[in-house]
Amino acid sequence: MENELKIPSHVGIIVDGNGRWAKARELSRSKGHEFGFQNLQKLTTYMYRKGIKYISAYLFSTENFKRSDNEVNFIMNNLLVGRLKEILEFCHKEQIKALFSGRHEKLSAKVLKAMDQIETETKDYRERIFNICFNYGSHAEIVDATKKIVEDVQSGKLKINDLDEKIFSKYLYQQLPPVDLLIRTSGEQRISNFMLWQCSYAEFYFPKTLFPDFKAEDFDEALIEYTKRDRRFGGISYENESN
Ligand code: FPP
Repeated sequence: MENELKIPSHVGIIVDGNGRWAKARELSRSKGHEFGFQNLQKLTTYMYRKGIKYISAYLFSTENFKRSDNEVNFIMNNLLVGRLKEILEFCHKEQIKALFSGRHEKLSAKVLKAMDQIETETKDYRERIFNICFNYGSHAEIVDATKKIVEDVQSGKLKINDLDEKIFSKYLYQQLPPVDLLIRTSGEQRISNFMLWQCSYAEFYFPKTLFPDFKAEDFDEALIEYTKRDRRFGGISYENESN
């Protein structure tokens, strides 16, 4: 079976269920994120070893600012800024190039500095790309791309008739291939403003497992399911062709 597994190039993960995982154990929501953070390192290590090249993880949406100050501060200051050394060590050990996608508005100077340091220190790694969607929303990304396109058209850098899907995608936050497999943990079956452009032909997988419990063997299950999918990209598959 192992030899026959199809390995996606780009996997998107909507990290979900940290809060419910913590609640079930009478822990604070922040503790759930702490366990989620630890699990993310183990899971991505395993995924890269399986041959995945690109991972995009939704770690903080533009809408997550609606949460309590306590929870937002924990993710920003205790995890991202407070664990900067651990994150850098992890990226260097696994040779991961980390990128951040999202708007900078509303992020503190400390958070922006940590993000910049992670991107700068890991910029030369080529084989494993970790796209961290942070203060990210796909509508915002498309609006931001459109604004840059309008600026380039107004300044004469881009001709309106040259604009097509390929050129449009060059204005998105990152130059990454499309998402092949999108996993959202915790049983929710929605995309919640995550990489709408990039997921246009992604296979969706919605395991019930809460993120801190989503381990290597759960990812193997996702790969088995992905391997069974017939990806036609709007065409027809040879197996089903009749005339
Ligand atoms: C969703 O679960 C999870 C988040 C909004 C935060 C995820 C963040 C991390 C795993 C770590 C962040 C690390 C870095 C380096 C920035 P939820 O809270 O929506 O769960 P629930 O639906 O059960 O409440």
